[in-house]
Amino acid sequence: MKPGMKFKICSGSALLITGLVFVLVYGISQAPAPLAQDMDMDMAKDIIVLKPEDLRVVALGARVYTEACASCHGANLEGEDNWREPLTGGGFRAPPHDETGHTWHHPDTQLFQITKLGRVKYSEVVMNRTDIKSDMLGFEDTLSDAEIIAVLSYIKSTWPPHIKVQHDLVNRNVHPDH
Ligand code: HEC
Repeated sequence: MKPGMKFKICSGSALLITGLVFVLVYGISQAPAPLAQDMDMDMAKDIIVLKPEDLRVVALGARVYTEACASCHGANLEGEDNWREPLTGGGFRAPPHDETGHTWHHPDTQLFQITKLGRVKYSEVVMNRTDIKSDMLGFEDTLSDAEIIAVLSYIKSTWPPHIKVQHDLVNRNVHPDH
């Protein structure tokens, strides 16, 4: 082997390593900021799984729904009239939680975060947006995590089978092991 060859190979791999380090550092600096900040759950890592087939969870969730959600989202999950039209001051009226709404478009973890934090804080913490106005307040001070999972499990338990299947796919799209 010519002496120059060895040098070339070395400088080639040094270049490769420098490149890799650059990609790593650049990649990390471009990654979204940590989502959890000072919250008691790790919003970035915790994956929530609803339990719509667990009758005890669903029974608890039905009670929570009546007490905490029905006043806005409707006793039969029907939502408020004209919920699709934006309000003049910003935000929307409470959407239905049945299959005519878009609750089932969102994965379990996101539904949990919106319910726990409220729409405004959720947008700030998870989406880094401070321009969102909403009457959907958070329940982190009034409901336990288990109660939030229960109420969302109850909501899912009311969906027809094909919507449940669609929602399972939404979950799996985000978290393949879901
Ligand atoms: C004071 C009225 C009010 C109460 C009470 C309320 N919500 Fe809401 N909720 C809203 C409004 C308004 C929105 C629409 C937010 C927006 O898009 O601006 C909403 C949106 C949501 C969403 C997002 C749905 C989607 O498809 O984007 C979820 C999930 C949700 N609420 C769950 C709950 C749960 C669970 C409860 C009870 C524990 C509850 N809400 C209680 C007003 C309320």
